[in-house]
Amino acid sequence: MIGTALRRFQLEDRRPRRDEILADALRGLASHPKRLPSKYFYDARGSQLFERICEQPEYYPTRTELAIMRDNVGAIAAALGPNVRVVEYGSGSGLKTRLLLRHLQSPVAYVPVEISRSALTESVTGLGHEFPYIEMLPVCADFTRPIKLPRAARAPRQTVVYFPGSTLGNFAPDDALRLLRQMRVEAGQGGGALNGGVLIGIDLVKDRAALEAAYNDAAGVTAEFTLNLLLRLNRELGADFDLGGFRHRARWHPLAGRIETHIVSTRAQRVRVGGQVFEFAEGEPMLVEYSCKYSLDGFARLAARAGLRVAGVWTDPARQFSVQWLACG
Ligand code: AVJ
Repeated sequence: MIGTALRRFQLEDRRPRRDEILADALRGLASHPKRLPSKYFYDARGSQLFERICEQPEYYPTRTELAIMRDNVGAIAAALGPNVRVVEYGSGSGLKTRLLLRHLQSPVAYVPVEISRSALTESVTGLGHEFPYIEMLPVCADFTRPIKLPRAARAPRQTVVYFPGSTLGNFAPDDALRLLRQMRVEAGQGGGALNGGVLIGIDLVKDRAALEAAYNDAAGVTAEFTLNLLLRLNRELGADFDLGGFRHRARWHPLAGRIETHIVSTRAQRVRVGGQVFEFAEGEPMLVEYSCKYSLDGFARLAARAGLRVAGVWTDPARQFSVQWLACG
């Protein structure tokens, strides 16, 4: 490859360490009801399985969000303005990001914050080739912990936090609020002349059948994705979950407005994790994920509590999903 030298990136590695994962797992297994954090779904295999979920016919969010971005990227890029520093939380494969970066006017830097090192390296390598003039500042980290993110070499006009995928839905209301506030701070202090904003993908409330199908695809990819969490704990913590004794369950809870995903023990059993023993009863559910869905009004109220004002909303014709531009203050 003459002349197209592979650009290498300084990757800031702040991945959760084994002792952090162990402490989280032990705390969750000791609570009643038992729970495990969904962020640990995303090891290398989990990130691959998530990409496969996005290809399942029942899983509408990813393709709907991509279609909204395609149909409105001109207006979205205009709302964000020129010379922005883009910070992305949970960057994943980077497909929507590519679209955004292509249409932004001379973006200054791209700062993806992603917990899966393999997903981060892959996406930033691809983007680095396509956008050699954008400074790439990848950070491998859990974005729920406050971290000081790298500044761009060239001063941006403003910082925009990009948070696609409806990942905000994976947080309980208090945590979602905290995260939105953290993003507002990042957008306000990103080193730009102006206060920036947050471009966010938000999944909308819809009928139960469509929602439950999306989280229980017929091919069983979501079940495999969920149960991969136990495999990860076995591998990284030396736990001894017997995968044959657990199953995936995802149900819509209309009052809470969310899909709750549980791993259900199919029999009475004991599991060892980090030298401790945990008892599971037959049929006992362990909470592993929320996927909260919002109404446009409900989300605007949440954003307002975080000091963010809805300044633009783009949806698909069936109003399944929304992409929203939130301005600071
Ligand atoms: C990470 C928010 C995009 O909650 O819809 C997909 C993760 N979990 N199927 C979601 C997920 C089960 C997903 N997001």
